[in-house]
Amino acid sequence: MTLQLRVYVPPHPLIKHWLAVARDQATPSVLFRSAMTELGRWLTYEAIREWLPTIDTQVNTPLAPCAASFINPEVPLAVIPILRAGLALMEGAQALLPLASVYHIGVVRNEETLEPSVYLNKFPSQFDPQTRVLITEPMLATGGTITTVMGELTQRGIDPAFVRIVSVVASPPALQKLNVTYPGLVVYTATIDETVNDKGYIVPGLGDAGDRTFGT
Ligand code: URA
Repeated sequence: MTLQLRVYVPPHPLIKHWLAVARDQATPSVLFRSAMTELGRWLTYEAIREWLPTIDTQVNTPLAPCAASFINPEVPLAVIPILRAGLALMEGAQALLPLASVYHIGVVRNEETLEPSVYLNKFPSQFDPQTRVLITEPMLATGGTITTVMGELTQRGIDPAFVRIVSVVASPPALQKLNVTYPGLVVYTATIDETVNDKGYIVPGLGDAGDRTFGT
């Protein structure tokens, strides 16, 4: 069986609403952050559906024994925001995964070549290979940043099949690159926009997600 990247664009009115707020250039930074938090929440809700490991057991209700399923506390969960913009989705993601460990990684793109480089890496030297990883990266434009981060994760023992990417705007070049390099991956995004301009920005997109989040 050949693996293929799976990309989900959940058709949810709340996701569409907060995407519209985030796209609007008139949205001030404080509201943009709220929109990103909400997008982080609802996209994470969708992304962890078949990702969170559970254990089947039994509980006693006041009336009778009953089959029950809990989140398995033995399987490590990791949330990885890609700095800076990935932080904008964190609050919403963390609200749903309060026990997940958070590992930061900072990646900056060279403005001319668009080549990514890692300027901060708080990953452990090895992850438990069972770790479920949720990456928050609002803009999947050229695919350079996300493939760099995936390389850092897989060389530390992460299985791409256990990774979910939560994004807000994805573009075809990034998705094609991921499909070639990490075909087992699953991406959840609010939208797929067609174009990436020669500066590496998605069009129409929502502009610079880091600048709009932090008001810079
Ligand atoms: N990063 C952003 O913040 N916006 C884009 O459109 C592309 C990359």
